[in-house]
Amino acid sequence: MKKLIVGNWKMNLNVHDSTLLIARLQQKLLPKTDMQVVACPSATALFACHKELAAYDEAKMSLGAQNICCHEEGAYTGEIAATQVKDLVKYTIVGHSERRIHFGETDQQISKKVQIALRYKLKPVLCVGENTKQRHDGLATQVVLDQLEEDLDMATAADLADLAVAYEPVWAIGTGEFAKPDEAEHMTGVIFDALRQKFGEKAAEKVRILYGGSVDPENSNSYMALKRVDGLLVGGASLNYQKFAEIVNNL
Ligand code: PGA
Repeated sequence: MKKLIVGNWKMNLNVHDSTLLIARLQQKLLPKTDMQVVACPSATALFACHKELAAYDEAKMSLGAQNICCHEEGAYTGEIAATQVKDLVKYTIVGHSERRIHFGETDQQISKKVQIALRYKLKPVLCVGENTKQRHDGLATQVVLDQLEEDLDMATAADLADLAVAYEPVWAIGTGEFAKPDEAEHMTGVIFDALRQKFGEKAAEKVRILYGGSVDPENSNSYMALKRVDGLLVGGASLNYQKFAEIVNNL
């Protein structure tokens, strides 16, 4: 199974700066056959980034969307459908905590997004994770289990080969306060066990489980050394080509 390193650029960079970042990464990233690197620019820059990558004989990364709509098409002003990005990207983030918190995204919607992504051959990177209060109240494991159960309620074992699940504790996102490796180890183990119980061992083994939350070049290797961690979801550090390349190249 290839490792998966995803850069989530969030609502940053215009079209010009996005393509510049792609070009710089293309220069800086070492070619790696055992790793899939994915950049997730804003939707406005996807077309230009796609063109930029097509200019290289061997693109060292693919593209992902940061979000897709839970409906297939129609009167949903301001939304972006899977069918509108499927020719540009291979992956899509689904259920990021910023979508859940700031835009009231529900597990029911996220479950639909997972299904729509799979229907249009986009690989979903499903994000789950507890917030600070839930953590302090000792509810972290239950929160993650509930999210997984609801977000994957329509998924089948056959879908799992295309799925990645990112454990992203909300308190660690953009805060510099990253999870200790043993916390990440515990929760990625919980995620694997839940997938195994629901879909069977063979299917669960195919899911790539990522850690995300204040990942940087100093801590990235400590997560990748964990038994159940197959990759990383990187926010802030992915906007800096030197840092992101360091994370990838050091693995
Ligand atoms: P961060 O963001 O690396 O800036 O903490 C991670 C994410 O939101 O996916």
